[in-house]
Amino acid sequence: MAAWDPAQYLQFERERTQPCRDLVARLEGGPYRRIVDLGCGPGTSTAVLRARWPDAAVTGIDRSAAMLERARASDPAVTWLEDDLGRWTPEGPFDLVFSNAALQWLPDHGTLFPRLFDAVAPGGALAVQMPANDGAPYLRAVARLRARPEWRPYRPEAGSEIGIESAEFYYDLLAPRARRVDLWDTRYVHDLAGPDAIVAWTTGTGLRPWLAALPDEAHRQRFLGQYRAAIARLYPPTADGKVLFPFVRRFVVVYRDAARPAP
Ligand SMILES: C[S@@+](CC[C@H](N)C(=O)[O-])C[C@H]1O[C@@H](n2cnc3c(N)ncnc32)[C@H](O)[C@@H]1O
Repeated sequence: MAAWDPAQYLQFERERTQPCRDLVARLEGGPYRRIVDLGCGPGTSTAVLRARWPDAAVTGIDRSAAMLERARASDPAVTWLEDDLGRWTPEGPFDLVFSNAALQWLPDHGTLFPRLFDAVAPGGALAVQMPANDGAPYLRAVARLRARPEWRPYRPEAGSEIGIESAEFYYDLLAPRARRVDLWDTRYVHDLAGPDAIVAWTTGTGLRPWLAALPDEAHRQRFLGQYRAAIARLYPPTADGKVLFPFVRRFVVVYRDAARPAP
């Protein structure tokens, strides 16, 4: 799959970090002394955790070497590990297992979430935020383009595309193991500079597996031209010439009973 580009990702740092701040602000309990940030990327989510719990021992894990290089430069006091979360086995329990905008890249949440919750110490929490944009105009535009004969032959690598489950799914899965499950969705409405900003945002993250499936740069440029035209139609300009980009995030927080250790 195409490598992550930290510079492109950080273009929208303020907008992307707000859900992370909101999640950290809503967390109860603590102080969390041992924290792991799963899919830490360039370290922006890790910095929010460090600001809230400055005395905690914090580990950041990501499988992208480019993202970790940025992360390492941002904070030498954090333990940064290059690892794939699909294989990661924690060395010991964490008071807070945290993940902002990363677990949507991993398959089989029915197995993944209980495994991550097993890494939570008594009295601790698993706290996760993931995009939940099913049916959003930009995704409908991509689906329509992909159905065209021109693009139909190309398919992203199996298992490489993002996906999450319903709130009901996470509740039924995790409530029997937890003291409490706190679930919510937030619809952010970002004001971006114009349609090109929506194209840059989405091609820097969720659409990467699809663009990587195209055979060469000429195909990518042709697809991007069609995608941009669709985005410009779907997201009309505001009075001051910007575009509004609604983006839904799903939050899943699972608290472990203080008296009930992990299995
Ligand atoms: C959208 S970024 C989020 C970065 C950071 N948490 C933040 O809030 O800005 C998603 C990150 O998840 C990482 N990631 C995706 N799949 C992964 C996996 N299987 N194992 C480890 N990291 C993964 C990517 O490398 C990327 O850095």
